[in-house]
Formats: sequence, C-alpha cells, structure tokens
Amino acid sequence: MKSSSHTVLVTGGATGIGFALAKKFQGEGNQVILVGRQEKTLTQASAALGGVKTMVADVSLAADRERLAAGFPEVNILVNNAAVRYETPFSDAGAEDLFHELNVNLLAPVLLAKAFLPSLKNKPEAAIINVTSGLALVPREVAAMYNASKAGLHSFSKSMRWQLEDTCVRVFEVLPPMVATNMTAHRTVGKGKISSDQLAQEFWQGFVANQYEMLIGKTKLLQRIYRLSPALADRIMRRAPP
Ligand SMILES: NC(=O)c1ccc[n+]([C@@H]2O[C@H](COP(=O)([O-])OP(=O)(O)OC[C@H]3O[C@@H](n4cnc5c(N)ncnc54)[C@H](OP(=O)(O)O)[C@@H]3O)[C@@H](O)[C@H]2O)c1
Repeated sequence: MKSSSHTVLVTGGATGIGFALAKKFQGEGNQVILVGRQEKTLTQASAALGGVKTMVADVSLAADRERLAAGFPEVNILVNNAAVRYETPFSDAGAEDLFHELNVNLLAPVLLAKAFLPSLKNKPEAAIINVTSGLALVPREVAAMYNASKAGLHSFSKSMRWQLEDTCVRVFEVLPPMVATNMTAHRTVGKGKISSDQLAQEFWQGFVANQYEMLIGKTKLLQRIYRLSPALADRIMRRAPP
C-alpha cells in the first residue's frame, strides 16, 4: 500500500499504542481520526497532534459502531486497537466483566470491520489493521479472557485476510510484545517494555512492506521458541512476572 494520503480511523487512538500509531500515520502524511470513550482524553490527544478529528464512541455498542461507519465514509484504513484487560482470577471474575472483555477485544473489532467493509470495498486501496498481542500465540496464566480474546482475533484476522484477498481490502495484524502504556503501568517489570513510539516505528516498516502479520520486538522470539518447543514457551509465559 502507499504510505500517505489515507484516512485512518484508530479506535483507542487517544492513548498508548493507538496514539503512537495515529501520530506515525499523521507524520507520514495521512488524515487521522481518533476514537475513544472519554472526551477529555480525546481532546488532549487531539491538542497534542493537531489537525485530527475525534469521536467519542464505545466500540462495544452496535449503535456507536454504526455511527462511526456512517460518520466517516472517507475512512480507508480502520485500526482496531481499543481493548481492555482484566486480571481478576477466573474463579472471582463476574460474568459481566468476562463478557465485556470478550465484546471489546474480539466482537467489537470484527463487527466494526463489518460496519466499515462496504465503504472500504469502494476505495482504491483499503486496510483493516487489528492489534492483537504476543499473548495470542502463547497465553499467560493471568488475564485468561484477554489472552483468549486476542487468540480469537489472531485467528479471525487470518481468515478475514484470506476471504478479502480478492478485494481491495488488505488485513494486517500487529502482535506487540509488552509496551509501556496505561495497560501495563501496574506491571512490575520495567526493563522488558518497549515504548509505544518504538512499536509504531517497527509497525511502520512492516506496513510499508505489506507485511500482513507483524510480530513486533520480542514477539518474534516468542514465536521462534514456541515453534521449537511449545512446552518451553508455555513454561516461560506461564511464569512471566505479574
Ligand atoms: N501495552 C501492552 O503491553 C500491549 C501488549 C500487547 C497488545 N496490546 C494491545 O494494544 C492495544 C492498545 O493498548 P494500550 O497498551 O495502548 O493500552 P491503553 O492505553 O489502555 O489503550 C486502550 C485504549 O482503548 C480505549 N478503549 C477501551 N475500551 C474502549 C471501548 N469500549 N470503546 C472505545 N475505546 C475503548 C481506551 O480509551 P477509553 O478508555 O477512553 O475508551 C484506550 O485509549 C490493545 O489492543 C492491547 O490489547 C498492548
């Protein structure tokens, strides 16, 4: 795909990885639209970037997904980045939280892609970019539904890519390692985290090279270990510090 003159909608685009991806796209000459649930955060992000559009929307709600698709027919790149992660042990987790996590992390990206698909198919070039995780390949013991939702989106992305192969819509997947954002602020290990900007830089190299499955940083090592010894990968990830 060409690298500029796209209109890119980023869910969860006001913070962390979404913000860094939005900044990168904007810096390379693309129009950017940021989506999130909190107006204040979106206003701050918009002020930091300048010249971007924003919309308050909850991607887990069908009405908000329809509002986004109807409000931005010019979008030709959809970045499904928004997600939540709860670490409550399964025995204590409420059914509502489990459903919400699955809804935001798996159903919402799929259904948002569905809502945008008719207009994406009418563009000369279009893309859906799903942000999953290294945990889609090998889960940790904690955050079981998060791991499962990312594994689900990983699998869905692959089938979606194949199904849309004969259209103008390319399907990318980004599998980040641990990145320093609000989501990982509570994690005690600081050394292993890369910055959102580092991730965005590596993403960009993959994007312009049409690399549809982008394993970022240590996710590449994790995949190699998993291929050599699934049991070793399980041991490493299961015991990864909280
Ligand atoms: N950080 C990591 O180590 C890491 C590693 C692998 C993968 N990832 C993935 O990277 C993506 C970004 O995460 P992050 O680390 O940058 O964390 P983050 O800063 O917490 O970003 C999550 C974003 O999603 C938005 N969001 C959450 N629920 C939403 C909803 N229902 N509707 C609309 N927006 C919603 C949040 O904004 P509001 O709260 O304002 O809605 C926030 O901007 C996620 O898909 C995450 O799973 C992160």
